[in-house]
Amino acid sequence: MVKISENFIAQLKAVCDITSVISSYVELKSIGRNKKCLCPFHLEKTPSLVVYEETQSFYCFGCGAGGDVITFIEKIENLNYVDAVKLLASRVGMTVLEDEQGDKLSKKRERILKMNKIAAKFFFNNLRLDKGKAGLEYFYKRQILKKNIIKFGLGYAADSWNDLQNHLESKGFSCEEMFEADLVSRSTKNGNINYYDKFRNRVIFPIIDLRGNVIGFGGRVLDDSKPKYLNSSDTVVFKKSLGLYALYFAKNSRLETLILCEGYMDVIAMHQGGFTNAVATLGTALTAEQTRLMSRHAKDIVIAYDSDKAGRIAMERASKMFMDIGIKPRVLKINGAKDPDEYIKKYGAGRLKVAIDEAQSVTKTKIENMSDKYDLDDPEQKRNYINEYCAFICNMVDPLDREVYIGELCRELGLPREVISNQVNFILNKKRKSYRKNVDREFARVSYRDKINPDSAKYPKAAKAEQGIIKFLFNNPDYADYIYNKIKPDEFITKWHKRVYEIMLDRLKLNDNFDVSAFHSVFDEDEMGTFSRIINENSNFSNTVEVLDDYISVVKDEHEKNTENISDMTLEQIENRRKDKAKKKRW
Ligand code: UTP
Ligand code: MN
Repeated sequence: MVKISENFIAQLKAVCDITSVISSYVELKSIGRNKKCLCPFHLEKTPSLVVYEETQSFYCFGCGAGGDVITFIEKIENLNYVDAVKLLASRVGMTVLEDEQGDKLSKKRERILKMNKIAAKFFFNNLRLDKGKAGLEYFYKRQILKKNIIKFGLGYAADSWNDLQNHLESKGFSCEEMFEADLVSRSTKNGNINYYDKFRNRVIFPIIDLRGNVIGFGGRVLDDSKPKYLNSSDTVVFKKSLGLYALYFAKNSRLETLILCEGYMDVIAMHQGGFTNAVATLGTALTAEQTRLMSRHAKDIVIAYDSDKAGRIAMERASKMFMDIGIKPRVLKINGAKDPDEYIKKYGAGRLKVAIDEAQSVTKTKIENMSDKYDLDDPEQKRNYINEYCAFICNMVDPLDREVYIGELCRELGLPREVISNQVNFILNKKRKSYRKNVDREFARVSYRDKINPDSAKYPKAAKAEQGIIKFLFNNPDYADYIYNKIKPDEFITKWHKRVYEIMLDRLKLNDNFDVSAFHSVFDEDEMGTFSRIINENSNFSNTVEVLDDYISVVKDEHEKNTENISDMTLEQIENRRKDKAKKKRW
């Protein structure tokens, strides 16, 4: 059997966003942060298949199908796991097996990578020649040191229509190949195709992937003409939405932190100032794939975007995307400069270091932005501010965070602590109640045909609570120790949940995060479906430690009660026993 590495699956999944894959088969409609569609796996008239972007998984409430993007392909194309992976990979130009010789695509990729490397050398070399003088002067004007020109392999594309084209031709590449690499553009005139260099009179920033391949280029004009930056379009070796500029260097800095900047020049200025952990997107807005990529290299993320309004909006968006994958990014404030590059030049790297160290969590920054919206001298607006602030506090997972921010708000407004505490508890209780109600309803719908975990029909309450624990752990892997200290797998009542809990704890020993795909090796297709349902269930409801504690005590109580061996009893016996107990209680 072919063994496909988890690394490969991770790379593949980074390219194959579940929403876009599923939407290529069925029409998706948005519901809140998720998407819904008619389930292609059974006949239905109202949509019951939900696609969860956050966990990159899906679940059908009608037929129980569920899993990740690979499960979806397995089912819809009727393929086994390996073939589904191969199909997905081939669609995005990735090759599963090294021995797939004659594979045109991988040959083509090889050719383009080779060509890119030659082009990068050519651009770099231009800086030493007369025709490249303007480029070198530009870099010096921007105060980039020679050693960093070399480190980043910077270069210059001459003011010519075919300088690079001629060079590549002399190395045996055809214009069609250059066109596929997006190194030349083409136009048609009187039926004749005419090729010309894409980058002309621009300084060049080669884009290097994690393996050190040159996969594309960015080119900046030397003056104020437009467009300021020209970037390679996507090719078979370059997917702009997946890569990060300078991650190749940053990953070696072995720091706990990654700094996310807006552009090439900021990154280079940062590295030059000693911050060798700076990266940037490649001329596009941040994507979910890029946040996941960064989270694999560092858990502490500092967003260092431009200080203008556009930068602030982009920062808000980026930080939400990081929060979605469980990272609380910090936000760098660069007062008195437009971007990190300018900041370093104006105030020096030392002061930037302080600013980076002091960068606050996005929570703190958000609250500051919130309070800017209201005029706190106006009682009505003050009231609205308190409401918004309290709602914000209630969305915090950790009670400690909530206590801290309750204190902050009280201090700011000079209110006694109970006032805000009561308000927050009131909202939380309301949420908890509606959460429980919903779980009950949800559970009644699902559990009695739960083939995967038949025990859940015997112990609905405990099973429900176990699911809550599993879901909480999935979303908050950093709470693993907390949970494990309170409840051991053996205390789980239902067999299948116990197994899931064990598997999850095991995985956390190797990895500090969960990805649905990792469970393919331990679950069959039906189990994937059930797992997918559990981790996605009621994702709009309360995700707090208090709710978690509720669940744990429900399971533990049930465990203590079950000194007799109930798993051998029939459903009927159990039901009678329950009635007996209920009667006793009433007396
Ligand atoms: P900025 O306009 O903030 O440029 O664009 P910058 O990084 O400060 O560059 P300098 O200092 O003026 O040289 C930020 C990033 O947005 C992308 C580029 O990746 C750039 O680094 N961009 C910008 C483009 O792709 N095209 C453009 O025309 C402009
Ligand atoms: Mn700049």
